[in-house]
Amino acid sequence: MPSIDQSGSFALGGRTVTRLGYGAMQLAGPGVFGPPKDHAAAMTVLRAAVAAGVNHIDTSDFYGPHITNQIIREALSPYPDDLVIVTKIGARRGADASWNKAFAPEELTAAVHDNLRNLGVEVLDVVNLRAMFGVHGPAEGSIEAPLTVLAELQRQGLVRHIGLSNVTATQIAEGRRICDIVCVQNAYNIAHREDDALIDELAREGIAYVPFFPLGGFTPLQSSTLSEVASGLDATPMQVALAWLLRRSPNILLIPGTSSLAHLRENLAAAELTLPDDAVRALEAVAGTV
Ligand SMILES: NC(=O)c1ccc[n+]([C@@H]2O[C@H](COP(=O)([O-])OP(=O)(O)OC[C@H]3O[C@@H](n4cnc5c(N)ncnc54)[C@H](OP(=O)(O)O)[C@@H]3O)[C@@H](O)[C@H]2O)c1
Repeated sequence: MPSIDQSGSFALGGRTVTRLGYGAMQLAGPGVFGPPKDHAAAMTVLRAAVAAGVNHIDTSDFYGPHITNQIIREALSPYPDDLVIVTKIGARRGADASWNKAFAPEELTAAVHDNLRNLGVEVLDVVNLRAMFGVHGPAEGSIEAPLTVLAELQRQGLVRHIGLSNVTATQIAEGRRICDIVCVQNAYNIAHREDDALIDELAREGIAYVPFFPLGGFTPLQSSTLSEVASGLDATPMQVALAWLLRRSPNILLIPGTSSLAHLRENLAAAELTLPDDAVRALEAVAGTV
């Protein structure tokens, strides 16, 4: 496995994590629903990530649901001391695999307990409140009520740190008046840069920005510019996309998702890829094109 140390590190949840982490959503079945087609392969990917130095894993109990967390527990428990597992609450899966808002106090409380039980821990390292106001991306709406519930669960000792996901700058400001916010997780990648100003603002505040869909998510990135730059650097387009994010801002932490050991290796090797200035200039053309 490649060394990921060169990706650098950043403070997250009271600890320091390597900036190249791992997103576990791809370990569930198709549509992030039901079991994976190859349970043993999912375990192998998780163990290989941690063996390579990954100490930041992103998950949720609504992946599967429950199944992804159960695989993480089976593969990695007892957990290494330096591992930070970040989960999220605020959604509930329907029997038809739908994603539904779950902001009622009893739903949020049950979600924290589901995560504790399925991950097999007594305290959750970091819990993101995942806002569900917009269909495509963040939309305005007060997060005061659900975040107050989560902050109370933190006071009870069930949650160490709190983050926000799929949120606007206004919601982050509202959240920071209620409790300390250690990370923000929104959709962002080399092609979709709506959060550019927000990332810079969070960097100034020392808050981690954790882009989901760093490789394009359900429609992986495809761009001729990305492919040309990659071939010029003897790298793959996905490695360039990850290296670009690492260079974009020091508070960006990566959680690329994969169910494949070969893709995991490829993604972690992005830590060793330094983009020259002319490549970065060329990559500007990818913004908004994919
Ligand atoms: N807060 C939120 O609302 C939210 C939403 C979505 C995701 N997330 C988190 O963010 C993490 C990352 O997002 P994501 O997994 O949806 O998307 P992603 O990391 O952008 O991309 C994952 C997709 O790219 C493929 N892939 C991965 N590495 C590859 C490579 N080297 N070459 C070619 N294809 C590759 C994966 O397929 P293979 O399995 O075949 O590699 C999968 O289809 C998730 O795992 C989850 O933890 C959070």
